[in-house]
Amino acid sequence: MENDMSDFFELVQRRQSCRQFSDKPVEREKLVKILEAARLAPSGCNSQPWYFIVVESPDKVAEVAQTTMQLGLNEYIGQAKAIIVIVEEHAHLIPKVAKMVDSQVFAKNDLGAATLSLCLAAESLGLGTCIVGMFDRPKLRELLDISDDKPIHMVVAVGYAASDKVRNKQRKSLEEISRFV
Ligand SMILES: Cc1cc2nc3c(=O)[nH]c(=O)nc-3n(C[C@H](O)[C@H](O)[C@H](O)COP(=O)(O)O)c2cc1C
Repeated sequence: MENDMSDFFELVQRRQSCRQFSDKPVEREKLVKILEAARLAPSGCNSQPWYFIVVESPDKVAEVAQTTMQLGLNEYIGQAKAIIVIVEEHAHLIPKVAKMVDSQVFAKNDLGAATLSLCLAAESLGLGTCIVGMFDRPKLRELLDISDDKPIHMVVAVGYAASDKVRNKQRKSLEEISRFV
């Protein structure tokens, strides 16, 4: 079931790391839509220093999933129907800014913003996601032929969740994380 995009806060509540996927395949059109949401994310100087590799062929998904299963972690990723690999590209900052800071200074934030945009879009289309930071980077680099100069930040497992149940969010309180002055 697709959620109502007008209720943003419900969408934010519903998004959670999905660690159990159903067998239902993910439609290519939905993958394109969630990439579109990532493409529209904000970035420092609008530099858009990102590249997304969408792994959808079952054999490749299995191989990529293997690279995330270190230390007995992330075994559920083998059930995902697609895995999106998020790679950092060189950021071309506007000249005034480029004089003052390293070109990649904003890139981590930019990729984080794009990743959340992607995950929320997936949720709005009824898809579950899990952002995965633990994986064997050299192996994944070799598997997908990603050059050494491009950091691989995260992979996002995508699929239909096996259950609709939304867990309680474990979060610090607003008082702990913010103040008004
Ligand atoms: C940068 C990053 C890396 C993460 N790496 C992993 C991971 O390797 N394996 C995993 O199962 N979850 C991973 N997660 C998911 C977090 O554990 C999860 O977002 C957090 O516990 C909050 O739970 P929620 O996403 O269900 O709200 C990662 C999340 C982020 C943002």
